[in-house]
Parts: sequence; C-alpha cells; structure tokens
Amino acid sequence: MAKIRDSWGTRLGIIMAVAGSAIGLGNFLRFPAKAASNGGGAFMIPYFVSLFLLGIPLMWIEWTLGRYGGGFEHGTAPGIFHSLWQKNRFIKYFGVIGIFGPLVIFIYYIYIESWTLAYSFFALFGKYAQLRDQAAMQNFLTNFQGLGNDQYFESLGWAYFFFLITFILNIGVIYHGIKGGIEKLCKWAMPLLFIFAIILMVRVFTLGSPDAANPGWNALGGLGFLWNPDFSALKSAKVWLEAAGQIFFTLSVGIGVILTYASYLAKGDDVVLSGLTASSTNELAEVILGGSIIIPAAFAFFGPVDIKTIAQSGVFNLGFVTMPLVLNKLPFAALFGFCWFGLLFLAGITSSVSLAQPAVAFLEDEFDINRKKSVSIFASVAFILCQPAIFFLGRGVVDELDFWGGTFFLVIFAAIEVILFAWVFGMERAWDEIHKGADMRVPKIYKFIIKYITPLFLFFILGMWLWQEWLPIIFMKNIPAANQPFILMTRIGLLALFLILGLLVKIAWMRKKKQMQRIR
Ligand code: ALA
Repeated sequence: MAKIRDSWGTRLGIIMAVAGSAIGLGNFLRFPAKAASNGGGAFMIPYFVSLFLLGIPLMWIEWTLGRYGGGFEHGTAPGIFHSLWQKNRFIKYFGVIGIFGPLVIFIYYIYIESWTLAYSFFALFGKYAQLRDQAAMQNFLTNFQGLGNDQYFESLGWAYFFFLITFILNIGVIYHGIKGGIEKLCKWAMPLLFIFAIILMVRVFTLGSPDAANPGWNALGGLGFLWNPDFSALKSAKVWLEAAGQIFFTLSVGIGVILTYASYLAKGDDVVLSGLTASSTNELAEVILGGSIIIPAAFAFFGPVDIKTIAQSGVFNLGFVTMPLVLNKLPFAALFGFCWFGLLFLAGITSSVSLAQPAVAFLEDEFDINRKKSVSIFASVAFILCQPAIFFLGRGVVDELDFWGGTFFLVIFAAIEVILFAWVFGMERAWDEIHKGADMRVPKIYKFIIKYITPLFLFFILGMWLWQEWLPIIFMKNIPAANQPFILMTRIGLLALFLILGLLVKIAWMRKKKQMQRIR
C-alpha cells in the first residue's frame, strides 16, 4: 500500500509553523546579547547585509528544495540532495548534516527551553522575588543548574523535572504529526507569543527614567544605543561573522528544518510569498520585539556602560539574570516575569519541535517506519543524547554543541545547498522551480545574488573562520584544562553520531535498491 505523507492543513498553518521555528530563543536572547556585545549600532549593518545576501536567498532556496524533495517523498537533505543530483553517489552523505545539525541543536536547546518553563513558575510563585542584585540572581541561576552552593536548590532535581516535562511536551506535539501536532501548536502559540511580547514592550517603554541621577537612562536611550549606525564596524571580521551566524540561527536556515517543513507542501503551493511572510514575521519579532525588550530595559536600569559588560557575560545572564532583576523592580513583578519566561517558552517550543522533525521525517520517509514508531525511536535516542548537556553544562558541553550544531555546520550546509541549487540543478531550472505556483515574483537581482554573491559571501565567511579560529578551536586553546576531556568526549560523540547517521543513509539506500530490484 502506498504510504500517504503528512501535509499542512492550511497555508496560514505552514507560515505560522515556519515563523514558529524561526522565532525562538535566538530572537529574544541571542540577538540582544550579540547586538549589545558588538556595540549595538555596530552590529546592525552587517546584520541587514547578511539578511539580504544570505538569509533571504537561503530561505527561498530551502523552501523550494523542500517542496521539490517532497514531490519525491523525501523530507530530509539526503533524499532531497539525491533527487537533485541523481548521478552523484556521494551527495546524499552531505545531506547527513541536515539531520545531524538540528538533532545536535535540539539536545541542548530543549534543556534551555526547560529553564524558561521552570522560571515561568518561579516568577509566578515568587521564588526569586526577594533577589535584588546581579550576584544573588546569578547565584540563583547557577544553583538551579546544579552548579552552585545549594542555597536555593539542593540538587539538579528541579531542573531535571522541568526538563522531563518539556521533553514530554515536545514529543507529544511531534507524535501528533505535522497537521495535528506542529500546526495546531503554532496556531495558538504564535499569537500568544506576540501578545506577551507586546505587553512587555509596552511596559519597557513606559518605564521612564528609573534612575533620577541619569535622566538619559531610559528605553529611548536603549533604542539609540541599538540603532545608531557605526560604520567602523564594517571593518571588523568578527562582527561580520557574528551577524551572519545570527541570521542563520534566527531564520532557521542552514539547519535543515525548513527543507523538512517545506517537503509537506503540495507541488503547486506558493513558496515565494509564504517564505517571505514567515521570514518577515521573524524579523519583526527579532529586531522590533526582541530589540525592544531586554536592551532598552537593561539600558534604562544599568546604563550604557554596564549593558555591554552584562551582554559580554552571555546570553543566559541577559535572559535569566538581568531581565528578572529588572522586572523584579516593577509593580506586578510576578506577572511580568511570567510573561517574559512564558514568551521564551512559547518561542522555544515552537522551534524545538521543528528541530526534532527532520530526524523523525528521515525514519518515516527513508525507512518507511510509521510516525508513532519513528517518534518513539527519536525520543529514546534524543533523551540519551540530552544527558551530557544537562550533567556537564558547567564543563562547556552546551557551548561546544552550539558551536558545531548551531554555528559551524550551518554555514557548511548552506554553502552545499546554494551550490547544488544554483550550479548543479542550474539557475534557470532553479528560477522556474522557485516560481511554480508563486504568488509573487522574486526580484530579478536575486538570480545574480543566489548564483554569485551568496556562495562567495559564504566562502568568504568560511575562509575567515578557518583562518582566524580553526587552530585554536581544534587544539582547544581557549578551553580550561579541566574541561578539555569533556570537550574531547563531546567531539568524539558528535563524530560517532555523524558516522551512524551516514551509515543509516547507506542502509536506507541499499534497502530501497533491493526493493526496486524485487519489484522489477
Ligand atoms: N530559529 C530558532 C531560534 O531563533 C532556532 O531560536
């Protein structure tokens, strides 16, 4: 019996789902941290250049490739790449990155997502309400993560409990499939997320100047800090790398998830306008909402100098230390705290389900395993893989996973996709394919950008990376000696995971070949 692939219920559904995948912790935590630590206005020029030359073209490429692959019943990169270049026996192995990457991000992302769920409850029940300074709030966070002196939590128990709940919720959603699970979730979670974000934004802009001695410390000052362009930043390679990395992460491109989501489209469904709508929604959520909450709030309370120090201390500090501290100083702190962490949780779960889906789709499409079984296999494997991120957080394991899964492989995967699309599939065919069923035309300039500029830009970024960072990364130069064994084990684990996925691709193709021979 021919199997029937899952599909989206409505056009709004897929737009919400892709926007849900894109709008995540990256928008509300990673973006403000990157912007503030790269000098605010210095960041926004490379950010927008990367958006138009990398993010938008790759978004259209992935929507188109995904829909094309879905036509051959392939929802993940090995099969999609193979359909594009059937003569090449090796191309499917490059596609392994499109399953490996999202899985690796999933295993740490979901843990951080579970903190947001925990903190929503802590906010509501006043568990950190009495804390008034950075040191105390920081201590609360490290205690919760099982890294501190047990002043607030005696063990990792609560963190583990919330991780389990978050994990079960995620698995529950993907168990119900594309239409019945992911689409349903995103249809109510996305509007709610926007409501929470708007409430917080309005609150931040009605703060006034909390410190009478510094009347310029207010939300508008924070916006000035973020939006005053600093052209000298164009000379800094690091700022370019950070900005391009943020564009990939936030739009969920170069990961493999848009390929999978778009594979559930029908052949004649528009990708041009839908893709643009989802990406624009993400940018609205990132630069307008993401840029108007933490930075202006932290600027109003801590001023232009301290905000940089706070941002340098990392994404977690900004989200789980600075922001609750700021909200604690306001009336109805519990409700605003709940709004903040609730917003992060909704942003997180609508992204993490998308990170899980490629691995599930791979089992369904390439091994003909039904959805429920595929989800059970995925859940068992992912559960085990999550453990090092939880227990060795203090050893830098999450940062290591983020580097490979959430940064390095995104650029590699994007480079493979654009070359395949523009040069192997061919730009003329690609252009026709993009426009099948399209509700608008892509501006013609993008034909040139996709063929030349995007690949050159990607190679430039990769080259810079290799040149500046490769040796220190390989030899773990910036990693404390005590953590090096853990990082080494993480790398060995990642390599093993990659090889196992490669082997599964080989087995899947051998099985299919045998099935074809039997039919003949
Ligand atoms: N795109 C997702 C985020 O921004 C992964 O968090």
